[in-house]
Amino acid sequence: MFDSGVGGLTVLKAFRNAFPQADIQYVGDTLHMPYGDKSPDNIRDFSRHIARYLRSSGAELIVIACNSASSWAYEAVCEEAGNIPVLDVVRPVVHHLAKQPNLSRVGLVGTRATVQSGIYPRLLKALAPNIHIDALATPLLAPLVEEGIQLHELNRLLVSHYLQQLPLDSMQALVLACTHYPVLQDVFQELLGPNIQVLNPGELLALECRNKGLNFAGKGTLLCEVTEYTSAFEKTAERLLGHPISLQTIDLHA
Ligand code: DGL
Repeated sequence: MFDSGVGGLTVLKAFRNAFPQADIQYVGDTLHMPYGDKSPDNIRDFSRHIARYLRSSGAELIVIACNSASSWAYEAVCEEAGNIPVLDVVRPVVHHLAKQPNLSRVGLVGTRATVQSGIYPRLLKALAPNIHIDALATPLLAPLVEEGIQLHELNRLLVSHYLQQLPLDSMQALVLACTHYPVLQDVFQELLGPNIQVLNPGELLALECRNKGLNFAGKGTLLCEVTEYTSAFEKTAERLLGHPISLQTIDLHA
C-alpha cells in the first residue's frame, strides 16, 4: 500500500479493520509529498517507482491509498505491477455511486490534483451518466489534520468555509476524496446534517474487497516505510493508528 505520506494510514486503518490478518507493507513518499500540488507527470513517476519497489518486495496486491495518485497514476501503476492486482481509492467510490438508486448530485472535496484530473466525471460517464459531480479543491484541510489541531471550532470553521462553496441544497452525497479528510468525517457530517451521505473511500475500498471475496491469511503485520524520515510522520502516524510504529527509511533509487 502506498501514499504520498501519512494520510494513507486512514485507508490502511479501514483496510485493516476489514482484513486484520493482512500483512501490510506501507510506503509513504515523504520525500515528494504533497502529491496534491504536483504535476501529473511527477505523480505518475513517483508512483511508478513505488509500484516497482513493492513488486520487487514481493507484494501480492498493490493498493494505491493516495487519491491524487489514484487519479493520475492508476494505469502507470498497473503497468509496473504486471500481473499483480492493483486497487485504488477512486474506482471503489465510483462503483458505489453508480449502484445507488436516485443519485444525481454528488459533491467531492480533494486535492487540486484530484479535482483537476476530472477522474470522477470521466469514470462515471460510462457507468452512471446521470450523476453530476461538483468538485472542490480544499488544500488547507490536509495540513490541518497533520498538525493534529484538536480545536473543534477551528476545524468546523474551515470545513464550513469550504462547504459553503458547494451546492448543498441539491447535494445528496459528499466524497472525502483525500486521505486526510476521514479524520474530519464527524465535522463534515455534523455540518451537512443526516440527509447527505459522507463517503470515506478507504471504507468503500475495503467493502469492495470484501464483495470480491478477497481474503488474507497473514499475521496482521505492518511494515511502515518512508522515503525520508521525519519525526512529524512518526508522530502523526502513531496518532492516526493509535499505536507505536517502527519506521524504516528506504531509497527507491538504490
Ligand atoms: N494523499 C494525498 C491525497 O489523498 C493528500 C496529501 C498530498 O497532497 O500528498 O490526495
